[in-house]
Amino acid sequence: MKRKVLIIIIALVLIVTVALSISLLIFKSGKEVSNPPEYVLLYAENQTSDYPTTMGAYRFADLVYERTGGRIKILVKYDAELGSEHDVIQQMSYGGVAFARVSLSQLAEFVPEMNVLQMPYLYTSSEHMWRVLDGELGDEFLRKPEDAGLVGLSWYDAGARNFYSVRPIRTLEDLEGMNMRVQESDMMADMVSALGANPYKIVYSEVYSAIEQGLVDGAENNWPSYEAMKHYKVAKYYTVDEHIRVPELQICSKTIWNKLTDSDRDIITECAKESAVYERQLWEDREKISREVAKSSGITVIEISASEKARFREAMSGVYTKYCGDQMDMLQKIMNY
Ligand code: GCU
Repeated sequence: MKRKVLIIIIALVLIVTVALSISLLIFKSGKEVSNPPEYVLLYAENQTSDYPTTMGAYRFADLVYERTGGRIKILVKYDAELGSEHDVIQQMSYGGVAFARVSLSQLAEFVPEMNVLQMPYLYTSSEHMWRVLDGELGDEFLRKPEDAGLVGLSWYDAGARNFYSVRPIRTLEDLEGMNMRVQESDMMADMVSALGANPYKIVYSEVYSAIEQGLVDGAENNWPSYEAMKHYKVAKYYTVDEHIRVPELQICSKTIWNKLTDSDRDIITECAKESAVYERQLWEDREKISREVAKSSGITVIEISASEKARFREAMSGVYTKYCGDQMDMLQKIMNY
């Protein structure tokens, strides 16, 4: 009899424990999360885990999960785990990857009319660029990737890009004959050629070793990329010329987008925009931190003179004709915005 009572007590304790665990799962954060998600979607990011764009991606994924009650789960894969930006954009066209944050330079290879938004020396300041991107024009350009099977969701910040090298760059003559890494972008390659250097298209994850092994003399990028990818350890001269601002975009595969309901699309768009606000705040801080980290490692920072900057700018006129020749009105509109 005693034994029977003991067994019943143990069974009761077990039942209560299991029931409690299940209810805890269900009501965690006040959301129903025990059901398996309806969608588990991949998000590609080529930066490190603590980079502002990656943190923005995590915020985006969390918001979507929360606002869809756990129905849509987004898995953020950073460090280019899903491939280079170029490969990811290709995979997205048939739905292999659902979301990504990509550089406009890469996207413009698939949607050439977007080049007009990233011409060298186009924006007079960061504020100028954000007036354009946060306004009607920015929305209009977010719709352009549709023909390439992509939906533009939001704009992320990537600051201004500068040249860095194993040798100092102070004048246009210093760039003459230098081997410079560029993104896998024709416009970027032409920009570097216009300045007298030899462009080498190399994927982002390979830039460090390309410089270290002497395949190229340098590259160009913003402070956070220079620091996060450790390029400052191999290219110790950083010239602040701010030759270009290349914003980034969060995009969604149209194949996936077409499967979602209107209300899920609204949630995703809203969460992408909110994550962009967050990314931009992080960006400002990270730019300062990265500059300090690189400087304290003993690099030389070169500020080029205004007259030299004007020479760099003048050298770009052919690039403007080639990439915006048929979009001069749009170019003018962006300049005057
Ligand atoms: C920036 C941008 C990356 C891009 C890289 C590059 O760091 O955020 O998405 O790949 O530039 O120069 O390739």
